[in-house]
Amino acid sequence: MSLPQRPENVVAIYPGSFDPITNGHLDLIDRGSRLADRLIVAILKNDGKSGLFSLADRTEMLQEVIQQFPNVEVASFDGLLVDFAAQTGAHIILRGIRAISDYEYELQMALMNRRLRPDVETVFLMASEAHSFISSRLVKEVVSLGGNIAGLVPPSVEQRLRKRFGQRA
Ligand code: PNS
Repeated sequence: MSLPQRPENVVAIYPGSFDPITNGHLDLIDRGSRLADRLIVAILKNDGKSGLFSLADRTEMLQEVIQQFPNVEVASFDGLLVDFAAQTGAHIILRGIRAISDYEYELQMALMNRRLRPDVETVFLMASEAHSFISSRLVKEVVSLGGNIAGLVPPSVEQRLRKRFGQRA
């Protein structure tokens, strides 16, 4: 199957839970914003697991940190990611890979998404060395146990996390 011609305006979606956004996500947004004309950071509305932050909080945190990127916007979606891609006219799904452990899950998702909609291409960016160990899950665990998360998440997110766990911001 051949891919369609290169579109005039490349629209990419960067989907995820973003509970909360980390500096690893932010790095990917920064680099992704240079590859696409328009980058939509798409927050999954409900994946069955209750997150630490509400959708409204996650959206607000993302809005705060993407202001520096004029071609980046935040949206949320439920249902199939590829359907959201079709609705928004996106050509690319952007995902980050940190370690080999991410690969299997990402490969499965990329192949399933391709099967569902072959015209949407998944593009992977390797996480920068400085961010390759950061995950939202570990950041939450560390801060909940009183550890230092400076430099792992944007300062505004660090403040919210500390507040959430009853620590001084
Ligand atoms: O940040 P995450 O939790 O790794 O992101 C996972 C996400 C949101 C990309 C994935 O769960 C997803 O795309 N969910 C939407 C439902 C869907 O399309 N499922 C089929 C994917 S193969």
